[in-house]
Amino acid sequence: MTGVFVTGTGTGVGKTVVAAVIARTLADAGRSVGVFKPAVTGLDEPPLADHELLRLAAGSQQSDDEIAPYRYDPPASPHLAAAMAGEEIEPERLLEAARTAAAGAEILVCEGVGGLLVPLAGPFLVRDLAVDLGYPLVIAAAPGLGTINHTLLTLESARTAGLEVAGVVLTPWPEGPSEIERSNRETIADLGQVEVQILPPLNLADASTWPPLRLSVGFKPSI
Ligand SMILES: Nc1ncnc2c1ncn2[C@@H]1O[C@H](COP(=O)(O)OP(=O)(O)OP(=O)(O)O)[C@@H](O)[C@H]1O
Ligand SMILES: [Mg+2]
Repeated sequence: MTGVFVTGTGTGVGKTVVAAVIARTLADAGRSVGVFKPAVTGLDEPPLADHELLRLAAGSQQSDDEIAPYRYDPPASPHLAAAMAGEEIEPERLLEAARTAAAGAEILVCEGVGGLLVPLAGPFLVRDLAVDLGYPLVIAAAPGLGTINHTLLTLESARTAGLEVAGVVLTPWPEGPSEIERSNRETIADLGQVEVQILPPLNLADASTWPPLRLSVGFKPSI
């Protein structure tokens, strides 16, 4: 089973964008790509929900249920959104759904929910799902002030759990980065001992304009 798990330093930091660009890069290289997101919340927020953008980027035929088995309207943590709907997220069902999604494609691109320590069900965190799936992590992070701490905390949390980190992606990377942003990139690479890539501001509505995003760990360079 081959795949990648895209997490982030928190919510709204570019996980979907990074996962979509990775999925698109793989699809453009001729791979069949499956996508997965354990739970989507904030469904009513425009323009596209995460699972919809991921499906488009991957050129996947998966149904909503196959990509994201738990979907809720309120923009809340998944454990709370589930409770508000009178449900509980079942870790076993998540794993089963992820394995089914992986079995239907050559490579699975998973997007986490929020950051690594977000609860999915009781004590079962996003990080536990990432460990169970066993894919290398890609960490989406903001380029600006505050990102060194958030990114190093995420790296520490990942490595403590034995997760392999394929890289960090700073997004959206400005066309004229400031000294702070350039220094953040170098400092994270240096202190985090990790490859740091960047994504420029993209037109999310037109995947044909996206640059490729290649990972050097967990995949052969030929992607
Ligand atoms: N390279 C980029 N080009 C254009 N927009 C970007 C880029 N990176 C991030 N964004 C914008 O930042 C916002 C957050 O990105 P995204 O939805 O990918 O975050 P997320 O971490 O997946 O959020 P969530 O926790 O809700 O899943 C979006 O509005 C997105 O359009
Ligand atoms: Mg997202």
